[in-house]
Amino acid sequence: MPRVENILDMSGRVAIVTGAGQGVGRQIALHLSSYGGAVVVNDYYHDRAQAVVAEIEEFGGRATAAQADVSDFTSVSTMVEKAISAFGRVDVLVNNAGNAGADPTAVSRGPFWESLPADWTPWLGVNLFGVLNCTRAVLPSMVQNRTGSIITIISDAGRYGDAGLEVYAAAKAGAAGFMRSVARTGGRYGIRANAVAIAATRTPATESAFDDPERMRKTLRMYPAGRIGEPADVANMVLFLASDASSWVTGQTYPVNGGFTFGL
Ligand SMILES: NC(=O)c1ccc[n+]([C@@H]2O[C@H](COP(=O)([O-])OP(=O)(O)OC[C@H]3O[C@@H](n4cnc5c(N)ncnc54)[C@H](O)[C@@H]3O)[C@@H](O)[C@H]2O)c1
Repeated sequence: MPRVENILDMSGRVAIVTGAGQGVGRQIALHLSSYGGAVVVNDYYHDRAQAVVAEIEEFGGRATAAQADVSDFTSVSTMVEKAISAFGRVDVLVNNAGNAGADPTAVSRGPFWESLPADWTPWLGVNLFGVLNCTRAVLPSMVQNRTGSIITIISDAGRYGDAGLEVYAAAKAGAAGFMRSVARTGGRYGIRANAVAIAATRTPATESAFDDPERMRKTLRMYPAGRIGEPADVANMVLFLASDASSWVTGQTYPVNGGFTFGL
């Protein structure tokens, strides 16, 4: 039997990963570059992106830092133009930037019935408009090249709801619906689009929630796998969806959640 090729190989591919200055996005950037891809490391905070580029360069990978606020279309368009002029193409977009945006402390978190539309803006701006902006910016070149894989990190909150995170859940569910539609229109151009729905994963954004052993014990009761997620758990799935290993996979939402939710 002939030997099976390394179908996760990303050599010659160029990926943009948003919000890659820390947490899940950083690990996705490290995974894609470890498998040979050139990576545009985006973050709102340039110093974070630069630090990840330095990590990638340390093991001989190719990467560049790209500051942009994904919720701002002009900022995103400039980033994509620069990426294309630096690397010649974009094959993969990972819409990872999310949560409450670049400054979570500025977001008010009262009951939904006390909130106003202005309170919803940061959630929708990064988790929904950010995904639309980045996808809109990369699609013309993907359509022209007749190839592309777009992956959006959503949350189980978007699939099952989360009390207190109503707007976040709406934005994440919207982003997954958008991916399904991009899969439908993109198919004939060789473009695939999928979402990855994650649950409690240890990152700088969530670290403090896992410090309290009693709280952790209660959390783990909801996870049949017996542990919370690590960024690498998510990056493994993203690498699969970015690579040719998933060439017949599009329009799906994959839970990577230790069994926090499951069903048919
Ligand atoms: N960590 C979890 O438990 C968890 C659970 C469900 C879903 N998620 C999703 O996973 C993704 C990554 O989460 P994380 O925990 O690694 O977050 P994180 O806060 O640790 O890292 C996110 C990075 O994105 C950057 N960022 C935020 N807003 C941005 C913007 N507008 N433009 C550019 N960069 C921006 C931040 O500066 C930060 O470096 C998010 O989409 C989040 O909603 C995380």
